[in-house]
Amino acid sequence: MRLMIVTLFVTLVLQGCQDEPLNTTIYMPENGSSLVLRSELDAELEGLIQRYGLTGDPLRGKNLPSIDAPLAQLGLKLFFNKALSGDKDVACVTCHHPLLGGGDNLSLSIGVGAENPDVLGHKRLLKDSLTLGVPRNAPTTFNSGLWQQFMFHDGRVAQVAGGITTPDVPYPQPDAQAGHNLVHAQARFPVTSSHEMRGNLFDRGGTTQTCRDRLAERLREEPNWLSLFRAAFAQADAAAETVMTEQNIAFALGEYERSQVFVNHAWKQYVQGDLTALSSSAKHGALLFFRERSEGGYACAACHRGDFFTDEQFRNVLMPPIGPGKGGVDNLSQQDYGRWLVTQDPADKFRFRTPSLLNVAVTGPWGHNGAYTTLEGVVKHMLNPFQAALSYDSAQLQQTHIPHMHLQENLREMLASNTDMAGQAYREEDVGYLVDFLQTLTDPCVTRSECMSRWLPSKDSDEQNPLTLQLDARFEP
Ligand code: HEC
Ligand code: HEC
Repeated sequence: MRLMIVTLFVTLVLQGCQDEPLNTTIYMPENGSSLVLRSELDAELEGLIQRYGLTGDPLRGKNLPSIDAPLAQLGLKLFFNKALSGDKDVACVTCHHPLLGGGDNLSLSIGVGAENPDVLGHKRLLKDSLTLGVPRNAPTTFNSGLWQQFMFHDGRVAQVAGGITTPDVPYPQPDAQAGHNLVHAQARFPVTSSHEMRGNLFDRGGTTQTCRDRLAERLREEPNWLSLFRAAFAQADAAAETVMTEQNIAFALGEYERSQVFVNHAWKQYVQGDLTALSSSAKHGALLFFRERSEGGYACAACHRGDFFTDEQFRNVLMPPIGPGKGGVDNLSQQDYGRWLVTQDPADKFRFRTPSLLNVAVTGPWGHNGAYTTLEGVVKHMLNPFQAALSYDSAQLQQTHIPHMHLQENLREMLASNTDMAGQAYREEDVGYLVDFLQTLTDPCVTRSECMSRWLPSKDSDEQNPLTLQLDARFEP
């Protein structure tokens, strides 16, 4: 009976009835302020919210630093500073700008070797076509403090028994130098990557550790940092060698990133009782997202689970294998085997970490390699991965340097692998409902530059003690 009512309702919606459905009961919010109509749709969603134990709040009491905390403030300055790259041309913010959704708006990131190092966003180009660039899409740094187990698309920085494992040690041993938390541990790696920040000449032949140490040493030669480090670490008389260490640099960077908590989206308000926070189209999308296939939905929440919209597991969803890849078995094929590169377990080939979907509307391009440049495109892919991968159109890529030499061949290998998804038919109009739902996961702050200004360097505060090498981002239309 219940299902029949729903079916009737779905039919009404499909026929173009976009307004609040007919089946409504009167609902009084707890504050009693206004009368809200509680529809059959709301009742259905309430059941799903209960089934999945959702609260709308992924923080659940987790203590993350405020951007006003001294360490986060120091981290902000470091995050925007090119001194942490070998040729002093790339900063973390190059690929993770707060006004670009915490990413870079590129399918595949460009670090060193850019035509103009200060141009960010979709107009950032490689100087010459001989450079390959970074083989993966830059995930957002927003809400990075909410990951419990894994960082990176392949989880190579991970919480393990006894600590945190990193690429510096054999997997899955804990790395004694990993630092205080996952985000701190991750922040020690971009500076060691030749494509991202190190370049080919700096600390040539060195190890990841000598690279970090030499960068810290070099930072000590730049003016005005020592007093900032001493203040942030509350060590008023510390020597530069004691307080300006690679560990403290990474810790401060991590505190800045962990302060980027953007979870106040409309869906949260809805889950917490404001039935007016979502349009009926978005509510319909939510139903499709959470319902099982047998209930007429698409079971997206099987993987995009909980209030952070991820199970932190690795899945093969057949993302089209574009770009230079990370090297396969022979290191020549432009393939990216994802989790397999970490575990060497054949079952892990092509598996990538399930991304969180918070703020997903502003974190494109999508997929571990940015294969999709529209949210509609990636949603269609998730609805029917086989069909989408087979008919993938690389013309959507704005970056012309992305190599496709082996695309067909790589695609064939991937399609023959064990996917974690079933190819399914879907109703074309459901794409729009799902997109409308995903849009409600955006915290309005991340779309407003006034709100984001707290995560950007302030224009005038440091006039007396200016820092050299701050990246002054240029976004070209
Ligand atoms: C050249 C572009 C580039 C630069 C510069 C860069 N990153 Fe990234 N970042 C990426 C890419 C690409 C990935 C994904 C790599 C992967 O998963 O293999 C990534 C991953 C991350 C992640 C993991 C997020 C997650 O969801 O697991 C964090 C956090 C991060 N970077 C922070 C930083 C910090 C801190 C710096 C500066 C020290 C930095 N990045 C510099 C491109 C960049
Ligand atoms: C079997 C697990 C699974 C299911 C079911 C699933 N996803 Fe995903 N989803 C993933 C994984 C894993 C990725 C990342 C794949 C990659 O990058 O190679 C992803 C990526 C995405 C992305 C891109 C996010 C980004 O930041 O790049 C969106 C959007 C998305 N999924 C939406 C959905 C929707 C909508 C559904 C239901 C129709 C769904 N997913 C079902 C596992 C799943």
